[in-house]
Amino acid sequence: MKLDDKMVKSLNEQINKEIFSAYLYFSMAAYFDSLNLDGFAKWMKVQSKEELSHAQKIYDYIYDKDGTVEMDKIDKPAKSWDSPLSAFKEAYNHELTVTRSIDDLVDLAKEIHDHATENFLQWFVAEQIEEEANTKKIVDTLEMIGDNKTALFMFNGQLGSRE
Ligand code: FEO
Repeated sequence: MKLDDKMVKSLNEQINKEIFSAYLYFSMAAYFDSLNLDGFAKWMKVQSKEELSHAQKIYDYIYDKDGTVEMDKIDKPAKSWDSPLSAFKEAYNHELTVTRSIDDLVDLAKEIHDHATENFLQWFVAEQIEEEANTKKIVDTLEMIGDNKTALFMFNGQLGSRE
């Protein structure tokens, strides 16, 4: 069954949000590289790629359901933050907004009885649990680290091992 026009529009908006997420995290990677925190930067680069794969997943689904993908302009992300902690707080808050956006899509799918899209979106519902937990864990660790430079550099090494 072909997708409802409203659903195609909302899924395209979600593609835009995922690409903005990639752009935001790429900008955070650049901020961390500017501080020589290469492990933090690596983590953000991997995350940025993951966001693009989320956009791709929705893109493929729209075509599987005979819809049309349409790109919109991407907002400009911030380029610097007060501290690694403030960058990760923003990343965590951003993930909360993405979760709300996925929830809204699920609500729409339910409202128009689009069972296929509701089922497709369950992958994103589960993924958001992980996205929130990962960023929150880093926020908590950075709060514990505080001004301890040695601990920050050790954590930098740990984050750099993300594949
Ligand atoms: Fe694609 Fe980080 O949510």
